[in-house]
Amino acid sequence: MRPSALFRRKSLSALLQNPPADEDLHGSHPGEHGLERHLTVRDLTALGIAAVIGAGIFSTIGNASHDGGPAVSLLFVFTAVACAFSALCYAQFAATIPVSGSAYTYAYASFGELAAWIIGWALIMEYAVGNIVVAISWSDYFTGLMDGIGVHIPTYLTMGTQSAYAGYHAVLDLMMGGKPLTSATPAQLEAYKVWNTAPVLFGDARLVCDLPAFCITVLVTALVYIGIKESKTASNLLVLLKLTVVAVVIGVGVFYVKTANWTPFAPNGIGGVLKGVSAVFFAYIGFDAISTTAEECKNPQRDLPRAMIYALVICTVLYVIITLVLTGMVSYTELGVGDPLSFVFKKVGVDWLAGVVAVSAVFAMTSVLLVFQIGQPRIWLTMSRDGLLPKVFARVHPRFHTPSFSTIVTGLFVGIPALLLNMDLVIDLTSIGTLFAFALVCGGILIIDPRGTSNARFKVPYVNGQFLVALILIVIGGLVFSYNRNAVNEFWRTMAGEGGYDQFRHEIPMTVFLLFCVGLSVISYLRRLSLLPVLGLLTNLYLMTQLGISNWMLFGGWLIIGLALYFSYGIKNSKLNQEPASAVV
Ligand code: ALA
Repeated sequence: MRPSALFRRKSLSALLQNPPADEDLHGSHPGEHGLERHLTVRDLTALGIAAVIGAGIFSTIGNASHDGGPAVSLLFVFTAVACAFSALCYAQFAATIPVSGSAYTYAYASFGELAAWIIGWALIMEYAVGNIVVAISWSDYFTGLMDGIGVHIPTYLTMGTQSAYAGYHAVLDLMMGGKPLTSATPAQLEAYKVWNTAPVLFGDARLVCDLPAFCITVLVTALVYIGIKESKTASNLLVLLKLTVVAVVIGVGVFYVKTANWTPFAPNGIGGVLKGVSAVFFAYIGFDAISTTAEECKNPQRDLPRAMIYALVICTVLYVIITLVLTGMVSYTELGVGDPLSFVFKKVGVDWLAGVVAVSAVFAMTSVLLVFQIGQPRIWLTMSRDGLLPKVFARVHPRFHTPSFSTIVTGLFVGIPALLLNMDLVIDLTSIGTLFAFALVCGGILIIDPRGTSNARFKVPYVNGQFLVALILIVIGGLVFSYNRNAVNEFWRTMAGEGGYDQFRHEIPMTVFLLFCVGLSVISYLRRLSLLPVLGLLTNLYLMTQLGISNWMLFGGWLIIGLALYFSYGIKNSKLNQEPASAVV
């Protein structure tokens, strides 16, 4: 293997020749492997909103508001700004390379094959692992709804095996240690009860699993398998319903806001607000998913950039208003629940609306599931066409014109863990994997178009970052130093060795980030880099530093498995091994 193989890039003309002319992906029907072009800018914006508004705003925002108070609305604004920089970069790439594959394809054009593979691998975190979170959250709302209409599904069929097992052992340990059961959380006690009463399979194994999460995944996968047109219609309807309900929540909720609840605005300081990074960022994930449908758009170069930006703006406005309404209606101390939007209406006595919100949450999350189940197979399809995954992943159904094998694998990849896993584990992994992909997309623009000179039909507006990057970083550094002196002092104490290695390792991501800021300021000065992609890169990396060292380690482990696969399969089978020199840059 030549080291240059790792950095070989696909030329634009090779990327645009999609699907590849030399392939007959399912045998005897040449020409049938192309996807069909149905999507307009309206459909794409709807798909974006369908992917974005879901478990984040209906569920995970509860704990974030509980930890951070009303100031979490500012975290929504900050995160939206980070996403906006990324959206502009995605949009330029989508206008330059309008083929399915999203960030993976963009990395192939900018950084080269190894980075492209790593991104493709990280995107599994965003799409498939993200959908595990959504499926589990869907199941929680669905089970509650069924209970509300008097249909009780046995709890051992609605709880993930991992949660039940961990809760059971936590309570068991308390009992063995002679501690009172009052020190267990309600969730642990519930898990203990469920594990004890569940049917015994064999030995110590019990039948405890999240069946609704699995079933909804199977249903959505079936819809996606049948066709993009059907999925589009379903998604448009779901979005309409979702937006109507969000508007009603805001319109009614605003009358119950007590401004006294907004004081204190940040009861647990910046630290409390930043605890919500993962949940808040999770709420925005999805606007980029529409770039995976480039081959199904009528006019991808014009419509994809517009739709991404429209979707992001609409969702940001709604999120900030909803957070303010939520934290204004009820004290932040009460918001640590899994169904905050419905909870606040119950709390102020508007039960009918609480019910409506619960029903709409089920629909909202179904549409997120739908878009992500559409996105993941299309990324695998593109990677397979490039030879980095086995050919079968690029198989397109002769009648439905959808990536058939990849769609089924995605269904299994999401459905089976959704039966078993605990949501907290997967939510952080989704956020870290997605932030990583966003950071690389911003970095990719700096590689292919560092000074905004490209002729793309959409490009990130060029602002000369020569002095501004350093200036902005100095101003932010000054503000942090003035207003969060404790955190700065704490950081320096840790760096000086107080607290030992255990404390130090938690600061590793921040240390690397600060060094990176200095390096990027210097490069921006020397090369007059475009300011907005630089800010996109830095804001995404900053959010990553807030996700905790254990998540970094898990994510690192995931990347190592990916690298092992690339070096044992992808590098040998890459199409670029056989391409004429003109296709390789
Ligand atoms: N943004 C999506 C959600 O909140 C993933 O469900």
